[in-house]
Amino acid sequence: MPEGIERAAALLSRARHGLALTGAGVSAESGIPTFRGEGGLWTKYDPVKVSSIDSFLADPAAYWKVSKERGSVALAARPNPGHVALTALEAAGHLVAVVTQNTDGLHRDAGSKHVVELHGSGRTVECLDCGRREPRADVQARLDVEMPPRCKHCGGVVLKPTVVLFGEPMPQAAIEEAFKLASLTDVMLVVGTSLVVFPAADVPLVALRSGARMIVVNAEPTPFDRLAEVVIHGRSGEVLPALASLTGA
Ligand code: APR
Ligand code: ZN
Repeated sequence: MPEGIERAAALLSRARHGLALTGAGVSAESGIPTFRGEGGLWTKYDPVKVSSIDSFLADPAAYWKVSKERGSVALAARPNPGHVALTALEAAGHLVAVVTQNTDGLHRDAGSKHVVELHGSGRTVECLDCGRREPRADVQARLDVEMPPRCKHCGGVVLKPTVVLFGEPMPQAAIEEAFKLASLTDVMLVVGTSLVVFPAADVPLVALRSGARMIVVNAEPTPFDRLAEVVIHGRSGEVLPALASLTGA
C-alpha cells in the first residue's frame, strides 16, 4: 500500500467539511484517457487546435472528429472503485462534496450526491444557433453519417457539448460554489489532477488559505505536492478504497 495512507485516513476521519477536487486521473481506470502525462489526449492533439472555442467555431468538424473518438469511450465508461470510494466517504460524512474538472458524469453515476462540475458536462449537447439541447449519446449515434452533427431542431451545425472549451468562461455558479466550499473546508483531498489548469487549481489554494490541511493523491508528482500535508503517489482506484475502508466509510 502506498506510503501516507494511514495519515491521510486519520485526517479524513476527523474532517467535518472534507472536500475533494478530482481530475482526469480518477476516470483513467474507467478507460478514459487523461489529458496530460503518459498517453494523455494532449500528447496526441494540440488542445488549442482541437479544443478551444475559436477553433471549434472555425471548424466544428475538426472538434467533433476528436470528440467522437473520446465520446465513444466516455459514454461507455462506468464508475471505477475510486469513484465509489468517494461516494462512501461522502455518505460517511468525511466529504461534503466533490468538485470535479471531469465532464464524464461518473461521480454522479457512482452515487456522489453533491458534485460541482467546474468544466461542465459532456452528457449534453447544445445548439449555439437555437439554444436547444439534446443528450450527447443521441448525437454520438449519428456522427458516422453526420459530421459535423446538425441540430435536429433548426438544422444548425454549431452543436457543442456543454463543456468548457479553452478560451470560454467558466460556469460562474459552479466556480462560486467551489470556492465557497473550499473556503469552508478543513480537509482538502485532491485526486488525479495535474493541477495546471486554472481556476480549477485555485480551489485547493483557497482551501489552504482558509487553514485547511491538504492530501494529494496522484499517479505522479504535482506542483502542489510541497503544499500538502500528505502526498500519496498511487492509483486512485487503489488508494481511495483503502482510504474509505480505513476511515470506516
Ligand atoms: N490514479 C491517480 N492519478 C492518475 C491516474 C490514476 N489511475 N492516472 C493518471 N493519473 C494522474 C496523471 O499523472 C496526471 O497528473 O492524473 C493526472 C491527470 O492530469 P490531466 O490529464 O492534466 O487532467 P486534469 O488535471 O483533470 O486536467 C484539467 O485540463 O484539458 C483540460 O478540461 C481539461 O478538465 C481538464 C483540465
Ligand atoms: Zn438548433
